[in-house]
Amino acid sequence: MARLTDAVSIVTGAGRGIGKAIASRYAREGAVVVLADIDQALGEKLAQELIEAGGRAVFQQSDLANLSSIDRLVESTCSSYGRIDVLVNNAAVTKSLGFFEVTEGDWDWIHNVNSKGLFFCMQSAARVMQTQGGGRIVNIASIAGKGYPATSNVSYAGSKGAVIAMTRIAASSLAGDNINVNAICPGVTRTDLYYEVMRGKVRSSGKSEEEIMAALDASIPIGRSNEPDDIADLAVFLASAEARNVTGQSWNVDGGLMWD
Ligand SMILES: NC(=O)c1ccc[n+]([C@@H]2O[C@H](COP(=O)([O-])OP(=O)(O)OC[C@H]3O[C@@H](n4cnc5c(N)ncnc54)[C@H](O)[C@@H]3O)[C@@H](O)[C@H]2O)c1
Repeated sequence: MARLTDAVSIVTGAGRGIGKAIASRYAREGAVVVLADIDQALGEKLAQELIEAGGRAVFQQSDLANLSSIDRLVESTCSSYGRIDVLVNNAAVTKSLGFFEVTEGDWDWIHNVNSKGLFFCMQSAARVMQTQGGGRIVNIASIAGKGYPATSNVSYAGSKGAVIAMTRIAASSLAGDNINVNAICPGVTRTDLYYEVMRGKVRSSGKSEEEIMAALDASIPIGRSNEPDDIADLAVFLASAEARNVTGQSWNVDGGLMWD
């Protein structure tokens, strides 16, 4: 039986990687999925694929670093479907940088999308959820936000720590409105972003991509890095009726890298 029947769901950063896996899974579970991404070509292609597979999906080009764009995303979802049942805040950016390499420009680029954009997207969607009697928010954080040392850079880790903290405050602020807010903290997950960060580490370390990837996998207790579907599985649960009494939590999906 489908677990998200008719749930109007916004997935940000849905064009590729983890967002694409979540959006595709939600469509298969019966949701109406609004695919939000800055990349028009990726978003339109996925919408077409999901519709051809029998799902319900629409693409809305959105820049999560831009508050007007976030408001347009929420408004257009409401005007098309009349409600927002689920928001998955997944869009984020990063690159491989050493501690002393991070510039103010890097900081602003990362935090504008990963923490500022995520907050205002939660706020805008929660206003709608409040008036309709409830909803679900799933924030994609990272184990970097809990101090995983092999992350892409310190500014990214800070932006994801902010997501974990905001998830808790949002959960307590919105609990009385029947809005559950949880975070997923992926570990090493094989997406385009992962391979981009790997290439940065190759340049800075002098090691080969294969050596770095093998060392990363060897450091994971379960011995395998995530596929994007590993994250989608938990994102379905957190949006489903089964998670009705779960809120404010930050769930690691990382093969045992972090215990917190
Ligand atoms: N891949 C990993 O190892 C890993 C680990 C931990 C956490 N995460 C988190 O998972 C999420 C997805 O990561 P991914 O690996 O799939 O990344 P990805 O780079 O492969 O995909 C990100 C998507 O977000 C879109 N995007 C980027 N900036 C945007 C903006 N300003 N507005 C709208 N869309 C934008 C991109 O076009 C892309 O489609 C992110 O929050 C990331 O921090 C990833």
